[in-house]
Amino acid sequence: MVLAATMDRPALLGGSRAVTLDGTSANRWPIVTDEDVAAVTEVLRSGELSLHKITGALENDYRALLGVKHVLACCNGTSAIFAALHALGLKPGDEVLAPSATYWASVMPILWCGAVPVFCESEPEQLGLDPADAEGKITPRTKAMVVVHLWGMPSRMDSLLGLAQKHKLKVFEDASHAHGAKWRGKPVGTLGDAAVFSLQTNKLAPAGEGGILVTNSDAIHEHALCLGHFERILNLPTPARRFAGTGFGMKHRMAPLSAAVARTQLKHMSERNARRNANIEYLSKRLEKLGLRTFLAPPDIERVYFLFIIQNDEAATRLPTDALVKALQAEGCDVVRPKYPLLHQQPVFTEGVFVDIARLHDVPRASLPTYRKEDLPRTTAANAQLIQLPAFPSADRALLDQYATAFEKVLGAAPAITEAWRNGTHRA
Ligand SMILES: Cc1ncc(COP(=O)(O)O)c(C=O)c1O
Repeated sequence: MVLAATMDRPALLGGSRAVTLDGTSANRWPIVTDEDVAAVTEVLRSGELSLHKITGALENDYRALLGVKHVLACCNGTSAIFAALHALGLKPGDEVLAPSATYWASVMPILWCGAVPVFCESEPEQLGLDPADAEGKITPRTKAMVVVHLWGMPSRMDSLLGLAQKHKLKVFEDASHAHGAKWRGKPVGTLGDAAVFSLQTNKLAPAGEGGILVTNSDAIHEHALCLGHFERILNLPTPARRFAGTGFGMKHRMAPLSAAVARTQLKHMSERNARRNANIEYLSKRLEKLGLRTFLAPPDIERVYFLFIIQNDEAATRLPTDALVKALQAEGCDVVRPKYPLLHQQPVFTEGVFVDIARLHDVPRASLPTYRKEDLPRTTAANAQLIQLPAFPSADRALLDQYATAFEKVLGAAPAITEAWRNGTHRA
């Protein structure tokens, strides 16, 4: 193929770069202003760095935002997930349906409850648990499912909630990526028995470190509070007050300095989500025209974007994903392969270490799940075609247009790039 002008020639094949604008400030996250600094300073100056009332104020903010009965501010999302799963009443040997395509913290706390994950395929459009695959994996030991609204896209809740109801399973939502997302008008985090939002720095309403546990269940709230918030047990109006001297052995409360950041960030979340969404949707529509899958939300869903992940259908673009990433990087695009490894392929599972972590030595091995790298072929294949772009929280159209041009150039020259990629004759 002859590529005439160097402007149109992909940078990987000697042309000039499509992206010349500096994306540093367009992609800076979190957005920290004087308001965050003032909020933190006020708490710091108070000298009350463990039990400041700002943590309760943050819980009230989330209660109002989500319309839920109980909110517990925890020191991070992982501790909040452990507390929620423990409070669901998981017992040794119980099975929990869970995605493999997620961050480890969605799943690993299951083991600390003595239960085990049963990994399911992710469905290709909304990226959460595949309801059909999950149903096929239900056994008499299955007690719960972990639903992850991955990258900010709500999962297929109608099917998953139906499945849970039919088989009497508890539903835990990991909404760590999905602050502000809605399913049929209802906020995610309010759809199951309990949910958690991570407030780690990259998240949509960050605190540095923090986790928000939400539930409408008095029993779940009480258990999670006894587990990790001993100082609040005496405030309970129930016989659980008798545990005030010990709690249940963990300490999960959020640092008030984090709560100060979290409150300020939350105040601006919806306006910042809207800007990020508008930017990503604008670029997504241009990328869809090139045959890329961008996971735009279906009509009954308001998604958000913790990360902007797209999928390169190699059969459609005729460009291997590694070559596409390399060619886009050569154009000046800040793109990478997403970092989460598939969990079912990790040594903790494939080498059987999970038995030690979950202390399941007394449970016959034959009644525990087996984990093999070659399991979940559909999720594995889909995962190999994902590409992560910047989330463009503060980008303007000029930068987005340059990214669109980079994709157009690269995909327009797919055969030449593939050939150079295979022969090793592209630019280093
Ligand atoms: C899907 C998911 N769940 C849970 C967590 C854990 O949250 P944290 O980092 O606040 O412990 C994270 C990320 O950090 C996450 O991405």
